[in-house]
Amino acid sequence: MKDNPMNAANIRIGVVGLGLMGCSIVTCLLMAGHPVVAVAPVSADLQFALKRIRNHLLRSRREKLVQHPPAKFLQHLIITEDYHQLAGAALVVECTLENLDIKKTVYEKIEAVIDQNALLASNTSAIPISILQQQTTHPERFFGLHWAEPSHTTRFLEVICGDKSDISNGEYLYKLSHLWGKEPTLVRKDIRGFITNRIMYAMYREAIWLVEQGYATVEDVDRACRNNAGYWMTLVGVFRWMDLTGVPAYHTVMKDLFPTLNNSTEVPKLIDDIVKKGGKGVANAHGFHSYTAEEAELWEETFTRFSYDIRKLALKYPEDVVKKKLKSKSKKTTKSNT
Ligand SMILES: NC(=O)c1ccc[n+]([C@@H]2O[C@H](COP(=O)([O-])OP(=O)(O)OC[C@H]3O[C@@H](n4cnc5c(N)ncnc54)[C@H](O)[C@@H]3O)[C@@H](O)[C@H]2O)c1
Repeated sequence: MKDNPMNAANIRIGVVGLGLMGCSIVTCLLMAGHPVVAVAPVSADLQFALKRIRNHLLRSRREKLVQHPPAKFLQHLIITEDYHQLAGAALVVECTLENLDIKKTVYEKIEAVIDQNALLASNTSAIPISILQQQTTHPERFFGLHWAEPSHTTRFLEVICGDKSDISNGEYLYKLSHLWGKEPTLVRKDIRGFITNRIMYAMYREAIWLVEQGYATVEDVDRACRNNAGYWMTLVGVFRWMDLTGVPAYHTVMKDLFPTLNNSTEVPKLIDDIVKKGGKGVANAHGFHSYTAEEAELWEETFTRFSYDIRKLALKYPEDVVKKKLKSKSKKTTKSNT
C-alpha cells in the first residue's frame, strides 16, 4: 500500500462479516468512493446485508450526506460468500463475532487469497491486536481498525498497531481514513481496550457500582451522564474540558476522590444477571431499563435519527475549529489592511 492515500478512493477494500457493523462499514466505504467486496462468512448474512446497506444509503441521501441514489454506490459493491473475490483488495476489514477462534479461521481464509502487501485489519472491540496478529502469517500488515456504529455517520476511528505491525502502514491507514470522513486516532502501542474502551469501561464500572450500592438509580445515572459529559463531549475531549474549566480544581478533587472509586476486577452482578437471563438490551427489549417491544423499536429509530442530527452539529465543530477561526480572522485583517 504505497499510493498516496489522498488519491486512494478507487482502491478496492474488502469487508468480511456483514452483521450490524460490517454493513455500516461497507456503507461508509462505498460513500467514500471505494469499490467494496463484502464477504458473508455465514450464509445468514446474505438475507439482510444488501437491504441494510441500501437502507443506510437511502437514509444518508435523505439526510444529505450524499447526493446520489443507492444504485450509484451499489454498482461498486460485490456481496459474496466467495473469499476469492477479495483478491486485488488493498485492505480487508474483518468484522466477525468477538471470538478469537472464529477470527483465526476467517484470517486463514482471507490470507489464502489476498496479495502479500495487502493490509488486514480487525474491528475488534477489545481483543489485543498483538494477540490477533499472532493468528496471521503476515503480522506486520495486521492492524486494529476500531469503528463506531453507525460507521457511515460517526467521526470516530481508532487505528491500532500491534507489537509486530509496521507503523508506516498504520500511518497510511490513519491518513486514508480521513477520506472516510473520520477524525482518526493512531494507537501506536497496543493496549487492551485501546483508548476509548479503557475510558468508557472505567465509567461503566463506576456507573454500575453506584446503582448496586444504592446511591442512585439506573435512570439517575443515565440522566447525569447525558447532561454532563453528553453536553460537551462532541466539542471537546477530557483534556480540553479540564483546560476550559480550570485545571487546579481537578487536581484538588483527584486527591480525595480517586481512593473512593470502584476498582473491582469482577464483572458486576447487575450486568451478569441480565446477560444470564438472555437480556441483550434494546435488541430484545431486555436490558438495564425496562421496555415494551414498541418502546425498544422506537429507541432504535431515535438513536438512528440522533446519529444524523449530532453529525450535523459535530461537522460545525471539527477538531481544528479554533485554528480555522484564527485563519479566517487573519485573512480578514490582511484584507482590511490592503
Ligand atoms: N456493535 C458495535 O457497536 C461494535 C463497535 C465496535 C466494534 N465492534 C466489533 O465488531 C465486530 C462485529 O460486531 P457486530 O456488532 O457487527 O456483530 P454482529 O453480531 O452484528 O455480526 C457478527 C458477524 O459475525 C459473523 N459470524 C457469525 N458467526 C460466524 C462464524 N462462525 N464464522 C465466521 N463469521 C461468523 C457474521 O458475519 C455476523 O454477521 C466484533 O468484533 C465487535 O466486537 C462492534
